[in-house]
Amino acid sequence: MNIAVIGSGGREHALVRKFAESEQVDRILAIPGNAGMGDAAEVIHGVSEMDFEAISGVCLEQDVEWVFVGPEAPLCEGIVDYLEGEHGIKVFGPRKKEAQMESSKAFTKALMAKYDIPTAKFAKFTDYDEACQYIRQTGAPIVLKKDGLSGGKGVVVAGDMDEAFAGLDELMAGGAVGAPIVVEEYLEGEEFSLMVFVNGDYSHSFEMIAQDHKRAFDGDTGPNTGGMGAYAPVAHIGEVYRQEAVEKIVGPVTRAMVEEGLDYFGVLYLGAMVTEDGVKVIEFNARFGDPEAQILLSMMEDDLVDVIENTRDKEPCSLTFKPGCMVGVMLSSEGYPKAYEKGKYVDFDDITDHCYISGLTQDIEGRFMTSGGRVLLVTGYGDDIAAAVEDAYANVDKVRFDADTLFYRRDIGSRAL
Ligand code: AMP
Ligand code: GLY
Repeated sequence: MNIAVIGSGGREHALVRKFAESEQVDRILAIPGNAGMGDAAEVIHGVSEMDFEAISGVCLEQDVEWVFVGPEAPLCEGIVDYLEGEHGIKVFGPRKKEAQMESSKAFTKALMAKYDIPTAKFAKFTDYDEACQYIRQTGAPIVLKKDGLSGGKGVVVAGDMDEAFAGLDELMAGGAVGAPIVVEEYLEGEEFSLMVFVNGDYSHSFEMIAQDHKRAFDGDTGPNTGGMGAYAPVAHIGEVYRQEAVEKIVGPVTRAMVEEGLDYFGVLYLGAMVTEDGVKVIEFNARFGDPEAQILLSMMEDDLVDVIENTRDKEPCSLTFKPGCMVGVMLSSEGYPKAYEKGKYVDFDDITDHCYISGLTQDIEGRFMTSGGRVLLVTGYGDDIAAAVEDAYANVDKVRFDADTLFYRRDIGSRAL
């Protein structure tokens, strides 16, 4: 069968590689893909992930059996509604209504409040002065979030009141725009990411959790990013916490969605935190995590087509994962998540198989150069986390780029050491 993967990042690179392992798959189209995905897919340059009409044209013409949508933007804009509703194309991913689990924090928070799903207390504001007053009353630490998609960058975790007001000014442009924000109670604890295959009242949670590193700099400092590195499994967060997340969060939230008339089909990402009062929800996403997908799909041994079809048929399944540990270090453009320059040369020829490409393009001679904030995830594997960390950084050392063009964290995986 032919498969189309929508998106152009490292997560989609992992998806096309995973589909390429399947004996059932003949051709894989990456729409629009990126210059680094040619190893596993036919890259359909020039078709935007938001151009649903053009995507449907390619899928119908190329006899695509399944479309897998990687990123949130097309999901939240209704790519599934369009491809399935207008053209009868099979898509793995939630429709626009269900994708609100990611696109609207206010929607998801209200659902969790109604069904008693453990999460941080919150309040929503469109008025700057009211938000100010609430923050003054509540005090710091406190968390401010844009209500809407922000690529992981619309979140301010403020340690003191100065940071809180500066964050509020940044998110609400000093009151100039009435974009809604959510103000949340600050939770403390260890975070983990759990991926779940969902179809209505059916869910299958990954047996292996991952941990992402959201802050830009070492020691969890600096601004929030889309993710600067990840690893799995997360041995220091015991199976009991994964189980607790499945029983107290995944089960209740899938039932709550059904109760509310939602019919979710696709991957649901749970960002969870182990707090003193148990596991709580930090966020849901309507798709695989990036870079968690690169790590988890490399570790997963099952055929992804089987897993998708199991989910469609609501068949119980269990996933198998390789023994050992995997670590991925994100090399990013200097300046990310703020402004950065593009067009810097990167050479990773010696370790291509260990890299997942997110922000690279090619010049006319075929040399790779940067085109995005997050550029490439360099992975390492080992019997334990220490060995995987060592392998990952040894691989990072084999990537060639000019000083001050890329940066990366040097402490990926260190919480597990
Ligand atoms: P989000 O986009 O909601 O996942 O937030 C990005 C990151 O901000 C999370 O991974 C956490 O590290 C941090 N964060 C978000 N909400 C909270 C919270 N209520 N308490 C503490 N940290 C948070
Ligand atoms: N790595 C976090 C995310 O994909 O949202």
